[in-house]
Amino acid sequence: MSQSRHHLFLALPSVAMLLLTASAVAANNTLKRRSAIGGDQTLVSPGNIFQLGLFSVANNTKWFLGIWFTVSTEAVIWVANRDRPLNASSSGFLSLSGQGDLVLLDAASNNETVWSSNSSSSATAVAQLDDTGNLVLADDAGSVLWQSFEHPTNTFVPDMRIGKSIKTGDEWSLSSWRDGDDPSAGDFRFVMDTQGSPEFHAWSRKQGRKTYRTGPWNGVRFSGIPEMGTYKGMFEFQFTDTAHEVSYMYHAYPGSPPSRVVLDESGVVHRMVWDRTLGKWSVFWSGPRDQCDTYGMCGAFGVCNVVDAVVCDCIRGFRQRSPAEWRMRNPSGGCVRSTPLQCERGGEDGFYALRGVKLPETHGSSVDNGTSLEECRRRCLANCSCTAYAASDIRGGGSGCIQWFGELMDTRFLNGGQDLFVRLAMSDLDISAIPSQLTLQYRN
Ligand SMILES: *[C@@H]1O[C@H](CO)[C@@H](O)[C@H](O)[C@H]1NC(C)=O
Ligand SMILES: *[C@@H]1O[C@H](CO)[C@@H](O)[C@H](O)[C@H]1NC(C)=O
Ligand SMILES: *[C@@H]1O[C@H](CO)[C@@H](O)[C@H](O)[C@H]1NC(C)=O
Ligand SMILES: *[C@@H]1O[C@H](CO)[C@@H](O)[C@H](O)[C@H]1NC(C)=O
Ligand SMILES: *[C@@H]1O[C@H](CO)[C@@H](O)[C@H](O)[C@H]1NC(C)=O
Ligand SMILES: *[C@@H]1O[C@H](CO)[C@@H](O)[C@H](O)[C@H]1NC(C)=O
Ligand SMILES: *[C@@H]1O[C@H](CO)[C@@H](O)[C@H](O)[C@H]1NC(C)=O
Repeated sequence: MSQSRHHLFLALPSVAMLLLTASAVAANNTLKRRSAIGGDQTLVSPGNIFQLGLFSVANNTKWFLGIWFTVSTEAVIWVANRDRPLNASSSGFLSLSGQGDLVLLDAASNNETVWSSNSSSSATAVAQLDDTGNLVLADDAGSVLWQSFEHPTNTFVPDMRIGKSIKTGDEWSLSSWRDGDDPSAGDFRFVMDTQGSPEFHAWSRKQGRKTYRTGPWNGVRFSGIPEMGTYKGMFEFQFTDTAHEVSYMYHAYPGSPPSRVVLDESGVVHRMVWDRTLGKWSVFWSGPRDQCDTYGMCGAFGVCNVVDAVVCDCIRGFRQRSPAEWRMRNPSGGCVRSTPLQCERGGEDGFYALRGVKLPETHGSSVDNGTSLEECRRRCLANCSCTAYAASDIRGGGSGCIQWFGELMDTRFLNGGQDLFVRLAMSDLDISAIPSQLTLQYRN
């Protein structure tokens, strides 16, 4: 009897201590007005998923304010003062100013403002780090004044959108670090292109060109990333395409491990998932994945196939623009039409079905989600400048309409790819391969 009482007595203080610890952690996800954290102090999200504080690179010579995963402190998802490092951790203070700005001050230079959220509006604001990894500055009424999710660096995580606000012009894009030791803005950006059927592309500032495209959203996944189907048990994808906003985000189902999508210093995008057993990040997908994902590899009207000894070929009905260049393994000049289209001359054109591809670049394409594929074919045939069409939504056998009006760029064969219908002069089509009904129905 007395023994169990004794146990009970002993157990109580440790429970109380646990509760105290928990509330201390919870209190530390919040920064109130006129308060500051500095040095090795951190804000910790309520569930201890994310932390915010100062971290260093280059052998502790440069210090940055950032947010990282508690399970993997080197996995930094956001950096505030990317371009203005501090020299020492002891000199940095994150403070919520009297004006309601989040500011990073450098005590080594008279509290100079190294970074500011530039949000000043409400004197009642508080900043909180939540369990999604978002640092949110909100007023008393809970209205968001500023949030780190709206200012991505090189990473996005579940519930964080990337894309564009058509209404405000705000852009949520990724920009790579300069190198592993330098979070300042590097060579690559990963942005949403909304001129046509929306798609993401990686852009190199040094090369001044696109280096990789995801392909457009096809209702299920990005046209160039069939792998997305293999992890849909863990994540749910959400694509928004409205008059106000074009954006993409993913949600993690409850109990799913931590995950992140990172644009690395060489322009490669990686989806990584935390392997709790091994205690390391497992790479689920990377893009570009192979040479056929290199933007424009086979030039206009070319098509790339990694299983072929020579990966580039011309789409049927097209021939190499410069056979000499192609012989020297430089196919980027692409292909030209073998037989001119007959449409303008009052003749007949038809469509060749290129099956199982990543759709060509959609910049400049037109898209109508609310129509049938049959209607799409009819519209394309009726417009002499339409060079190809495809379903904008692959569900239920395909519906909707993307039309291309010029060169078809960056097309590749892909396991799990979709169908592209390429306009050719009727004489370049194998008539016997076209169902006679369709041929009759769609002749001009
Ligand atoms: C958490 O907050 C308490 C009380 O404000 C403070 O004493 C402590 O230093 C904080 N801990 C960290 C790690 O910031
Ligand atoms: C990092 O700094 C320590 C201490 O100053 C020094 O001994 C070490 O050589 C440095 N390492 C590198 C890689 O510069
Ligand atoms: C940080 O270090 C650099 C290089 O040593 C120096 O030029 C600069 O003045 C230092 N900045 C501060 C705020 O101490
Ligand atoms: C700099 O800011 C810190 C934190 O707000 C404060 O404690 C310190 O007194 C300030 N120093 C100066 C010189 O204003
Ligand atoms: C805040 O405004 C200043 C001055 O206009 C600008 O230099 C700085 O880049 C802005 N900071 C952010 C995070 O946008
Ligand atoms: C087409 O519209 C439907 C209904 O609004 C939507 O669910 C679907 O995602 C859209 N498809 C594409 C490819 O945008
Ligand atoms: C063909 O489509 C283009 C691009 O949408 C458009 O500008 C043009 O007016 C169309 N031509 C006809 C004849 O409808």
